[in-house]
Amino acid sequence: MNPEQVALSEIDVSRPERFKEDSWRPWFARLRKEAPVHYLEDSVNGPYWSVTSHQLIKEVDTNHQVFSSEKGGIAIVDPYVTEANQIQGQSFITMDEPQHMVQRSAVAPSVAPRNLAELEPLIRERAADILDHLPVGETFNWVQEVSIELTARMLATLFGFPYEDRRKLVHWSDLATAVPEVTGDDSIDMKSRYEELMGAAAAFYQLWAERAQEPPKFDLISMLIHNEATSKLNENPEQFLGNILLLIVGGNDTTRNSISGGVVALNEYPDEYQKLRDNPGLIPNMVSEMVRWQTPVIHMRRTALSDVEIGGQSIKAGDKVVMWYLSGNRDESVFEDADRLIIDRKNARAHVSFGFGVHRCMGNRLAEMQLRILWEEIMKRFRHIEVVGEVERLPNNFIRGIKDVPVRLHPL
Ligand code: HEM
Repeated sequence: MNPEQVALSEIDVSRPERFKEDSWRPWFARLRKEAPVHYLEDSVNGPYWSVTSHQLIKEVDTNHQVFSSEKGGIAIVDPYVTEANQIQGQSFITMDEPQHMVQRSAVAPSVAPRNLAELEPLIRERAADILDHLPVGETFNWVQEVSIELTARMLATLFGFPYEDRRKLVHWSDLATAVPEVTGDDSIDMKSRYEELMGAAAAFYQLWAERAQEPPKFDLISMLIHNEATSKLNENPEQFLGNILLLIVGGNDTTRNSISGGVVALNEYPDEYQKLRDNPGLIPNMVSEMVRWQTPVIHMRRTALSDVEIGGQSIKAGDKVVMWYLSGNRDESVFEDADRLIIDRKNARAHVSFGFGVHRCMGNRLAEMQLRILWEEIMKRFRHIEVVGEVERLPNNFIRGIKDVPVRLHPL
């Protein structure tokens, strides 16, 4: 359907099929042009405001005094309170100040640059091992063999989690985000989901107990144990699981889809792929550009705590406000030829994929490091990762998910 045929007041950019079909571009383009702060009165998610321009997204994201993450959660879908969800506990991404910063500051050192540098060699070794065992000459799904496997290995490295059980981390992360309203999948068995998340909690308690007996290391659990602010995190079960799941979920889908999206983008823009072959020194900038182009987190939601005016519109206390990062990253007033991947784009880092303000992604440097290492290792081995079939995407308006990228490798 053509967005011009729909009345402006009825445009619903949240419909999951737009992301499955990858047909969202003209819809957001129209909102950016005609109503960068747009109200939809009626949707499956109730009434909501859409903020779609780069500048106004930053304005909302940095005004945490008015726009709360705690009041109504961070997704367009209202928080889903069931027993299974409560086990997910409390995490600081859905807290307002001052509690948010207390908790964030306690966990943040685990992903500080010095600690990341310690993890880099092991992450590189584990990435190289995947690439060295890929089936050259066959068609395979890049998402399964590389994006998911690499993310699992990175999470296991980060947590010092038993390496052979690494796929459990991906599984728990998938479970934690498996809410029917987001995924459109009603077949999820909420009881077994609850039991499995209890299993995750048990595994992390055991890991905590073991690590507490050992000298300090650079993995996240050890860092939490040996930091005064978090050394008793295990005594508060809700916060314990909440924060650990946040770190797993935060680093799972996002990194996975940046890896998959990067391959798709380079195939869509072969000139850019050639630029990369000619100058692998562009990798750090390319990583930012891939994160902009893919925008793994499509939106974040806030709830207005008081009446406020944004972009000339009057938002009332209690209103749901959705910042569409995917649209902000396509804003032509900031990014020239915004739909195009340009690996040496001068202002690639100005993207809004990591958000802004107090909740700005805590793992952004880790994510960039992982992607940089992966592409450095890819360029040592393969001339071309060729996409040879249809890319399959997920019907999800929160995570820009890619399920299948059939590829063939062409070694150097
Ligand atoms: C390309 C990869 C990633 C993207 C696009 C991404 C995106 C985001 C976004 C959009 C937010 C919310 C920002 C806001 O509300 O202003 C966020 C928060 C967060 N992310 Fe990431 N993320 C990525 C990787 C990671 C990784 C690897 C970790 C693991 C440590 C992580 C951990 C977190 C945490 C803990 C928060 C909550 C921060 C807070 O509330 O203070 N993220 N991320």
